[in-house]
Amino acid sequence: MEKFLIEGRDNHSAILVGESIENLKNYIPDSGVFIITDENVDKFHGKTFPDFPVYVIEPGESSKDFPVVAKIYRWLLDEGADRSSFVVGIGGGVVCDIAGFVAATFMRGIPFGFVASSLLAQVDASVGGKNGVNLEGYKNIVGTFTQPDFVICDTALLRTLPESEFRNGMAEVIKHALIRDTEMFTYLQTHRHALLNLQPDALNTIVSQSVKIKAAIVQADEREQGVRRLLNFGHTWGHAIEKISKIPHGQAVSVGMVFAAGLSVQQGYLENEEYQKILNLIESYGLPVLAEIDKKQAFEVMLKDKKREREQMHFILLESIGKAFVKETDIETLKTFAL
Ligand SMILES: NC(=O)c1ccc[n+]([C@@H]2O[C@H](COP(=O)([O-])OP(=O)(O)OC[C@H]3O[C@@H](n4cnc5c(N)ncnc54)[C@H](O)[C@@H]3O)[C@@H](O)[C@H]2O)c1
Ligand SMILES: [Zn+2]
Repeated sequence: MEKFLIEGRDNHSAILVGESIENLKNYIPDSGVFIITDENVDKFHGKTFPDFPVYVIEPGESSKDFPVVAKIYRWLLDEGADRSSFVVGIGGGVVCDIAGFVAATFMRGIPFGFVASSLLAQVDASVGGKNGVNLEGYKNIVGTFTQPDFVICDTALLRTLPESEFRNGMAEVIKHALIRDTEMFTYLQTHRHALLNLQPDALNTIVSQSVKIKAAIVQADEREQGVRRLLNFGHTWGHAIEKISKIPHGQAVSVGMVFAAGLSVQQGYLENEEYQKILNLIESYGLPVLAEIDKKQAFEVMLKDKKREREQMHFILLESIGKAFVKETDIETLKTFAL
């Protein structure tokens, strides 16, 4: 097991990669614990949960909304939860975001922890202390920055995860390598077979590396004022694609990373040879490098989406594989490249 610590502004967080859900009881109080999960995770892993009340939400993004949050608050009250209670979210990013938000706000905040059960939750959503819910289609519009006491990343749970969800999570793993870690990029090139076959050592290696990178960035910039922006690599164009199509997040981010890498070449920062390596790696994990979309519409959405300063916007570019930076980029330059 590997342990990573994040010192948040108000509390600290231990992320435990390779720990087992069987040991969850060692991290929680003996009483006053409330578990939040979703139907899929409950079906496959509910037997391993410690013996405490469980609230099961419907799987999917549509659960990340206020009516569900209100029902959970009501359930907590009915079950006798109080300020000394403890919440555990066991699930993917949706469960972690809701459980974190509920715990951070119930009675002005009670402690909580996660067992992250999807690859995306293990390498991204459960790390960093952001939580939140959607409102009428506006994603993550209400939320807090509150660190969980612990996050258990049990990679054995990934055995029941649908393959498409695994691939979506791999997009964020590749992102971490591209922005910060050349060696991890090489590891992803050489261990594709092991990873796609869910070989435990390989999984623990990439989850650890991802957590290490995200934790270090979050530690340096908990409130997203500087370096945390690098985590948005591939997400500016990616989010625009996601908005105008039904393409899942991980796939949209893959196309967005290829876009940003291509722009990096065009601007003279990245070698074309490295760009080709990036394209090959993304494709080798079954992720797309192109999307059939109306580029003009995507471009409009991207401009509307981002706070921009006059005729420029922040874009995350690559100098090389493993080295990203924030660049003020002209809207005209972006337009010429995108269309
Ligand atoms: N807070 C953050 O910093 C942050 C960062 C990135 C993403 N997110 C959020 O995370 C969410 C996406 O997370 P996700 O991709 O994990 O989605 P998800 O939670 O919906 O999980 C994807 C699917 O996999 C199922 N599942 C999860 N674990 C499983 C397991 N072990 N076995 C079988 N099925 C399993 C779920 O039931 C669901 O159907 C989004 O709402 C996004 O906004 C938050
Ligand atoms: Zn993402």
